[in-house]
Amino acid sequence: MSTDLAYQSSISPDHSSTYGLDEVLTACPETGELLDIQYDWDRVEVPSSLKDFEARWANRNCPLDYSGVWRFRQLLPFAPDDQIVTIGEGQTLLQQSNSVAKYVGLNEGQLYLQYEGLNPSGSFKDNGMTAASTHARMVGAKMAACASTGNTSASLAIYAGTTKHFKVIVFVGSGKIAYGKLSQALDYGATTLQIQGDFDDALKQVREVCKTAGIYLCNSVNPFRLEGQKTIMYRVLEGLNWEVPDWIVVPGGNLGNSSAFGKAFMELKELGLIDRVPRLAVINAQGANTLYELHEKHGLCWNGGKPDAELIKSFYQKMDDEDRRASTLASAIEINRPVNLKKCLRALDFCDGVVREVSDDEILDGKSQVGAGGFGCEPASGASVAGAKLLREQGIIAPSDRVVCILTGHQLKDPNATVNYHSGQPAPEFQNAPIPVENDFEKIMEVIQGIA
Ligand code: F0G
Repeated sequence: MSTDLAYQSSISPDHSSTYGLDEVLTACPETGELLDIQYDWDRVEVPSSLKDFEARWANRNCPLDYSGVWRFRQLLPFAPDDQIVTIGEGQTLLQQSNSVAKYVGLNEGQLYLQYEGLNPSGSFKDNGMTAASTHARMVGAKMAACASTGNTSASLAIYAGTTKHFKVIVFVGSGKIAYGKLSQALDYGATTLQIQGDFDDALKQVREVCKTAGIYLCNSVNPFRLEGQKTIMYRVLEGLNWEVPDWIVVPGGNLGNSSAFGKAFMELKELGLIDRVPRLAVINAQGANTLYELHEKHGLCWNGGKPDAELIKSFYQKMDDEDRRASTLASAIEINRPVNLKKCLRALDFCDGVVREVSDDEILDGKSQVGAGGFGCEPASGASVAGAKLLREQGIIAPSDRVVCILTGHQLKDPNATVNYHSGQPAPEFQNAPIPVENDFEKIMEVIQGIA
């Protein structure tokens, strides 16, 4: 047993071996299971009330207090202050939206949008990448890598580019990444490998490469990433004046967020900082619905830490036999082999969770509503609004429930998807098409009078 305050251990409750923070691991060396970062909470000075964290917000000259992640550092106490790598991530907002509430079918005042697109690289990934970058620095990594549908690569690239602690190689699926995201990796100076394959292929390759070449892996199998992503939930609670909502609705891809959210609530409950937990809804795109299929259709569950491994194996085998590839316009979540599957099952178990799938049309309609009544988001994030609407229609979410939809990425990440929606045929329900008009004053006035 480690005597350290923070250590790594397998998620399997039967397995008690622990590993120090100086080890670079993405799976338990003995069981191959995913790893958690665990803490000896009796030795951590955690504030007795969540309200105490709020005061730090005002301390803008201290980079750790200014960060929306590290302001909560007693809840992820694995790094000495002088090793923390921060670029001011986590300055994100929780906004109430009555127009989206109406669209979803909720009572006025009950729907909130958590805008993680407001992070420096434009997605929630910065919450996790600040933590992984910190650990990379603690172990003296000179090079880091990730596979990505675009946001992880943009985030890792910005941390490397601005802090210069390490060099970065990113693996992306050729033709599988929105241009806003690709442009970021290129501009921030990351070496960018376009693999002829999809995200699942790129991840398989990067894992092998990192193992062989001793490169630090920054995908969400890295347990430090998820420690940072827990703070999204702390900020949601803070935005609600530390009241626990009824539902958290989040898009599911590699299932890092949902896993991190579950861990956040498990720990807050254990520490006595909250007295109840919200329900969790994870929303898959129909074309990338492994979690939905396994959890809702095949009954796969956490089962006290022993999910049915045979069921998972045979499901993946069938997918391979049929050469079934993930396919959705929400390219961020175009993933068929979610690496955090088991951790997500644990989160669903703890938070009495549900999983739903939504079509690309529903995703884009949901996204358009966030655009028309909010600050906008990228397609994957639209899945949370579409999922909340579906759960409302199914009577699982009540009109009086307080619901938080997590918007994972910025509106400008994937402008093609947005422009295609607004100008494509057949016209979708919420299309706002550009109006072609001759370069002629009278003609322009005619159009304007027509809409006045
Ligand atoms: N939303 C956005 C905008 C994303 O970029 C991702 C994942 C997800 C949702 C899914 O989150 O994996 O925690 O379930 N993007 C990864 C990437 C895979 O490479 O950028 P998850």
